[in-house]
Amino acid sequence: MRSILLIGFMGAGKSTIGNTLAKKLGYPLIDLDDLITEKIGMPINTYFDQHGEAAFRQVETAVLKDNLTTDAIVATGGGIVVNELNRNLLKSHPQVIYLQADSETLIRRIKNDTQNVRPLASEKKEDTIISLLNSRLKHYEESAAIIIETSQRPPDEIVAEIIERLEKA
Ligand code: S3P
Repeated sequence: MRSILLIGFMGAGKSTIGNTLAKKLGYPLIDLDDLITEKIGMPINTYFDQHGEAAFRQVETAVLKDNLTTDAIVATGGGIVVNELNRNLLKSHPQVIYLQADSETLIRRIKNDTQNVRPLASEKKEDTIISLLNSRLKHYEESAAIIIETSQRPPDEIVAEIIERLEKA
């Protein structure tokens, strides 16, 4: 099996859905942000402050490349589609799932998530986050083989749709 990759903006539910999907299918869950954190040896937020976003994106690409053919569910970071090389890698992969949600839902989930300090969202105005989302929307769409709407839907229902769509693909 090749990995099943979950993409989408911050707050799209990539980790939550990834977890449920992994349990349901009996596959391991790989969270690219966790692998990056291990590799850089510090929280992502601190790395952004010290080295900048461009350096972070390079590490992100390396970690993505390493995990495209792993037998696992792979939860990516929300900015994985910023880099054109990453988009091309995702486009040529048959099992990339875009977890789509409306901006209100995403902002609410980002605000409610106190565990995750996100350099591109924490302490940012809603307008700034929405502009970032809008600048990425077409990239998520073009990078995914399957698009799933997640706003106002429970994880179990989303996971059931993912499994059904993967079977048909
Ligand atoms: C980022 C999203 C984060 C993390 C980093 C950058 C982004 O992942 O990779 O803070 O550019 O959208 P999540 O989508 O898991 O929050």
